[in-house]
Amino acid sequence: MKILVTGGAGFVGSHLVDKLINDKHEVVIIDDLSTGKKEFINKFATFYKTDIRNKKISKIFDKHNFDIVYHIAAQKSVPYSLKNPIEDADINILGALNLLDNCVKYKIEKIIFTSTGGAIYDAADFFPTNEECEAKPLSPYAVSKFAIEKYLNFYQKVHGLNYVIIRPANIYGPRQDPHGEAGVIAIFISNLLQNKQCYINGGDQSRDFVYVKDVVNALILAQKAKNEIYNIGTSNDISIINLYEKIRKLTNSNLTPEYKPSIKGEVVKSQLSSKKIKEQIGWTPKISLNDGILETIEYFKNVK
Ligand SMILES: NC(=O)c1ccc[n+]([C@@H]2O[C@H](COP(=O)([O-])OP(=O)(O)OC[C@H]3O[C@@H](n4cnc5c(N)ncnc54)[C@H](O)[C@@H]3O)[C@@H](O)[C@H]2O)c1
Repeated sequence: MKILVTGGAGFVGSHLVDKLINDKHEVVIIDDLSTGKKEFINKFATFYKTDIRNKKISKIFDKHNFDIVYHIAAQKSVPYSLKNPIEDADINILGALNLLDNCVKYKIEKIIFTSTGGAIYDAADFFPTNEECEAKPLSPYAVSKFAIEKYLNFYQKVHGLNYVIIRPANIYGPRQDPHGEAGVIAIFISNLLQNKQCYINGGDQSRDFVYVKDVVNALILAQKAKNEIYNIGTSNDISIINLYEKIRKLTNSNLTPEYKPSIKGEVVKSQLSSKKIKEQIGWTPKISLNDGILETIEYFKNVK
């Protein structure tokens, strides 16, 4: 198949592109390299360095005749969105709409969209949280992702564009940026390997962590589904304090963290049920938190 992956130079997108190319698909990437890296781009993919908000992306659609589109590109940081809601909406809402308009115009079979499971259920009614639970997005980031879910419903009902929405928990693994405000596992591992002190905002808040290769498998399986929303998580959560302890031990560090106040607007507890995607298209997480952290430590040991 001919597949467009937006954000294919980023953490999740680059792993997805590697898998698609390994499976013999023809892959085109649109990425502005704002957080993505050139060295993550698979050399067998066709790469366009451009912004998803650029009206000229029509030319790329016109030229390549895509079967499906993965929309992975985004402003992906909750803390950044809290301080910059307009920029977040500009990229995550207007950028996505530019893409959706082109999907309709060029009659794309299906768009697969990475929403958020970690941020969309603020104060969830039950745990592990499934798709029946009301989405209560609080942060601008979660609001922008939820808005696109609703736009997808509109584009499906009115223009016949099929979609699959993936709501992943907190993703971690090799290639995650350890310098941003999001991606706590990458940040802890990278700091502790360099003997730098970590800080923790709050600490009692808990997250469900899912390994990047498991998320890629879910994105691949999503090709089989139509107009569905799936949570992607492990049904387990761990507090940030306990996560720190785990990583401290696995990196053989004896550093203690510095504690800062928790951030308003961040979810307190996240733990996602993946029962629906398991029953419908057979996805389950395969990699335990311990094994995933060990693989990520190995990766960061070799990063300059
Ligand atoms: N990392 C997580 O824990 C997590 C959890 C749930 C959902 N997600 C979603 O998964 C997707 C990938 O996240 P990630 O962690 O790989 O982030 P990332 O920042 O590594 O990847 C995003 C990519 O999009 C590109 N990009 C950003 N703005 C762009 C624009 N305006 N035009 C073109 N390209 C642009 C970046 O350069 C980057 O390569 C995002 O949609 C994110 O919201 C991530």
